Amino acid sequence: MLEFIPVLGRNDIEQMVTDVAHRISSEYQNKELILIGILKGAFVFLSDLVRKLTIPFKIDFVCVSSYGFNTLSSGNISLNKEIDIDINNKNILIIEDIVDTGSTLSYLVKYLKSFNPGTIKVCTLLDKYECRKENVKIDYACHVVSEGFFVGYGLDYAEDYRYLPDLYKLKL
Ligand code: IMP
Ligand code: MG
Repeated sequence: MLEFIPVLGRNDIEQMVTDVAHRISSEYQNKELILIGILKGAFVFLSDLVRKLTIPFKIDFVCVSSYGFNTLSSGNISLNKEIDIDINNKNILIIEDIVDTGSTLSYLVKYLKSFNPGTIKVCTLLDKYECRKENVKIDYACHVVSEGFFVGYGLDYAEDYRYLPDLYKLKL
């Protein structure tokens, strides 16, 4: 039987998103900003974040998968949707749901760098730092978690539970 242990409630998350949106809005004031959302997991975080930013920006998406139907990162990343807008010389901010081993992020940073952007920074809802294998820099992390597998607020387990408004740790 799966057990859902509450980690962050919707009000905690809202406060974190407000705070990070404030930091991003002041850092990118008068700079050309492009957000790159990582599908699918980041779609809820991203949609809340964009409505709290107070600066103009453009937005695009990539879709990657690495987990399959397991809770352990496979390390085999497949890019299912590429970017369509021109990011040459632009300031890129990657929006991720959770950084675990860092494989997805380091793959994406390499991919995006091939289009010669001006700067690339990373914003994630959750930083699961204990499992990090790749040396990736996270510029904005809303919340740090240790081990475990998390669902809700966009994060899935085998494509389920993305719809939960709060965040849970899953006990398998
Ligand atoms: P990484 O490549 O190991 O850093 O894994 C990152 C990707 O795996 C994220 O984009 C998530 O979609 C997914 N992921 C990692 N940890 C979790 C988790 O605890 N719950 C749900 N998805 C996760
Ligand atoms: Mg993801």
